[in-house]
Amino acid sequence: MEVLKATDLWVEIGGIEVLRGVDFSLSKGEKLFLTGDNGAGKTTFIETLMGFVKPLRGQIFLNGSPVESEGDWRKLRLTVGYVFQNPDDQLFCPTVEEEIAFAPLVAGKSRREVEEIVSSLLSLFKIEHLRLRPTHKLSGGEKRIVSIAAVLAMEPELLILDEPTVGLDRFRLARLEEFLRETDCGVLVVTHERELIDRLRWRRLELKEGRLLLAEDG
Ligand SMILES: Nc1ncnc2c1ncn2[C@@H]1O[C@H](COP(=O)(O)OP(=O)(O)OP(=O)(O)O)[C@@H](O)[C@H]1O
Ligand SMILES: [Mg+2]
Repeated sequence: MEVLKATDLWVEIGGIEVLRGVDFSLSKGEKLFLTGDNGAGKTTFIETLMGFVKPLRGQIFLNGSPVESEGDWRKLRLTVGYVFQNPDDQLFCPTVEEEIAFAPLVAGKSRREVEEIVSSLLSLFKIEHLRLRPTHKLSGGEKRIVSIAAVLAMEPELLILDEPTVGLDRFRLARLEEFLRETDCGVLVVTHERELIDRLRWRRLELKEGRLLLAEDG
């Protein structure tokens, strides 16, 4: 069954209809790409799914129940890990270690469990050397990979990543790709990387003129 579902989403920004009746669902283990031109509304669509943008019309469901109260949205944001298009919007802790430890600490994991999660993610992306570095001083690609690691540390059921490959070097890109290929999470990846789409061969949704369609080649 779908973990996350959206029906008939309509969103208007500055008098322009960015989403015009969008339906969507994502189940555990399901893997999808989302493409569309610059300004097509991909980020707006994701932010609507996460409750950061309020639709004029439409409904979001989590495990079959409508998401309405603040408590419902909190639950959704614990279930769905969202990697922002701009890492500066995501990162807020003084150091990389604290950033990655934040979600598991809030989830009530023990110090030992948190340390295991942090070190395994630092090792997954080969960023052990960044552990004690201030997040706001990291390079663009470093910020990107740390923001991805911080979301993975939540151990979410679903992952939504908005252009996660931008700025990554070949090694980090390969590790990320391998993780996304192997994870049991449901995954939605927004990307303009044709080569990534061709390699993974997941179904591809395209946002065009406010509508979400299954791309013919995907
Ligand atoms: N807060 C806002 N105020 C004004 N316009 C906005 C706002 N947020 C989004 N828009 C506009 O809405 C449209 C959709 O933007 P969005 O960021 O969702 O596009 P996108 O598909 O993610 O593009 P990209 O591929 O460049 O990331 C754009 O024309 C954008 O300028
Ligand atoms: Mg975007």
